[in-house]
Amino acid sequence: MMRIGVFDSGIGGLSTLLACLRRLPDAEYLFYGDTANAPYGDKDPDAVLRLTRYAYDWFIQAEANAVVLACNTATSAAVAPLRERAQVPIIGIEPAIKKALTLHPQGPVLLLATELTVSGSKLRDLLARLEDAEGRVQALACPGLAEMIEDQDRQGDQCIHDYLCRRVLPGLRVPPRAIVLGCTHYCWIGNALGQVFGPDVALVDGNDGVARQLLRRLQREDPPQEAPELPPTARIHFHFTHDPVRKQAFATALLQEAGVRILPVSSPSSVAALPDRPYHGPGRRA
Ligand code: DGL
Repeated sequence: MMRIGVFDSGIGGLSTLLACLRRLPDAEYLFYGDTANAPYGDKDPDAVLRLTRYAYDWFIQAEANAVVLACNTATSAAVAPLRERAQVPIIGIEPAIKKALTLHPQGPVLLLATELTVSGSKLRDLLARLEDAEGRVQALACPGLAEMIEDQDRQGDQCIHDYLCRRVLPGLRVPPRAIVLGCTHYCWIGNALGQVFGPDVALVDGNDGVARQLLRRLQREDPPQEAPELPPTARIHFHFTHDPVRKQAFATALLQEAGVRILPVSSPSSVAALPDRPYHGPGRRA
């Protein structure tokens, strides 16, 4: 059975995992959430590269056939150097700005992402490649937002609503027609974004693009445009590096809300034997 590693600093990457499940429902998934070292967005790129490399090595020991970096921040800092010595395909995610510009040819586009993603050269290069981007795209960093989303199971979403009103709205140059969710965590706050920006604003993420790319790399075929329905069950093994019991309960609840029930992976012993000691990489705040 195909085994896919999916990596993020926390629960954000589950939104990418859901997209992968639609395209590859029969695969077995290993979800690595580096909650011991989250957030990644305020770290320096070298620290994020080291942490992502550690997770990649973990996936290789777990015999993953492909690794999905379901984290824009990790992709920005680590995908190119990791690919230099990769044994399996590595699929990264980057802000779906091109998709937003194409789907909404008239309106302004707002990109929300972490500080590291917004300041990275990968985003600069992407914007420079897109003809229409200059003048239509405003990029805003949202420090602290991913942590609030990560904590939603404890704090609820009022603080997220307040954050959007106090920290995002005042920074807008123009009201956006579309918002690019440039951090996978933000895929979980669609309701709050709709309340704050109004029901007409389109939310655009790159998750299905990642899932299609995964399929292309593994099966060497061009996937259909339309994503299939979500399967009712999925084989997922969770590996959270901090607070695993609570995190797994939150992850299970989020996937269940999406209509997916979790089944254990078929060979848990090979995964259970892997080191689960959290790696506190450099750059971690006290
Ligand atoms: N989910 C990650 C991303 O897509 C970042 C969250 C964090 O700052 O750790 O960028």
